[in-house]
Parts: sequence; structure tokens; C-alpha cells
Amino acid sequence: MKLHRILFKVMLLPAAFIAVNCYAQEPTGNFKDAQSNVAMCIGCHALPNYKSSFPLVYSVPLLGGQNAAYIIKALKGYQAGDRKNPTMQSIAGSLSDQDIADLAAYYSRQTADSANNNTK
Ligand code: HEC
Repeated sequence: MKLHRILFKVMLLPAAFIAVNCYAQEPTGNFKDAQSNVAMCIGCHALPNYKSSFPLVYSVPLLGGQNAAYIIKALKGYQAGDRKNPTMQSIAGSLSDQDIADLAAYYSRQTADSANNNTK
């Protein structure tokens, strides 16, 4: 192989590395952008002691005041199938990384007593 070709390939490596790193970066969550998706969650997650009944009876955890990193990890766990709950797996499957970051920002801003305040 000619030297200039080898040099060209060596020079491409850092560019590829930077591209991969940028791609892997987590998006920054914006709580205001979560509003449209929150509408999908409040039916279950804003009701204290609520139990969903399909396909089994599940206790629905309140999300207000939960740590953002925890919410992100939980939703990605449902996406990946590491966490198994049919409803949450299909809901999480419809969310982009940006949606997840926005929802995490939204819920982590709340406190336990604002859990029912869906407009906050
Ligand atoms: C039909 C009811 C329902 C809807 C709608 C719903 N969830 Fe859930 N969610 C549940 C149930 C039930 C669980 C507990 C499942 C389990 O035991 O793994 C849960 C668990 C979670 C968890 C894990 C909480 C924890 O403490 O581990 C997160 C995070 C979550 N949901 C986020 C959301 C978000 C965000 C939305 C809206 C985009 C949403 N959910 C919509 C029923 C629902």
C-alpha cells in the first residue's frame, strides 16, 4: 500500500472517533418539550395507589420527584427488554432518546407533593 493511502486512513481514525462520540452523547432534557408526551403518562402515573389491570394487576409508581438518571435508565431498560412490563415496554418503545431526556427533566423537577400537578 502506498504511504499516502496509509496516512489518509490514519487521519480518518480520529474523525471517526469524534463522530461516534458525538452520536453517543445523551441529549439534554427540556421539561417544556415533555408536555405532549406527559399526556400519555398521566393516566397511569399521576394517580396515587393506581393499579393498571392489563395483562396483570400492576402497581403504578409515582414519577414526580424521581431522579432524572433513574427515569432514563428505567425507560431504556423497558426499551431494551431488561425491564419487563408489556405496557411500559410498548410506551418506552415509542419514545426517542430526546423524548426520554425531556420526560426525565420534567418529572425530576417535580416533588413528591407536586406528583399530581400535571401542569407543572
Ligand atoms: C397504562 C398505564 C401506564 C402508562 C400510560 C404509562 N406507564 Fe409507566 N409504568 C406503568 C406501570 C404499571 C409501571 C410499573 C411496571 C413494572 O413493575 O415494571 C410503570 C413504570 C414506569 C417507570 C419505572 C418507575 C420505577 O419506579 O421504577 C417509569 C420511569 C415510567 N413508567 C415512565 C412512564 C412514562 C414517562 C410514561 C409516559 C410516556 C408512562 N410511564 C406511561 C404504567 C404506565
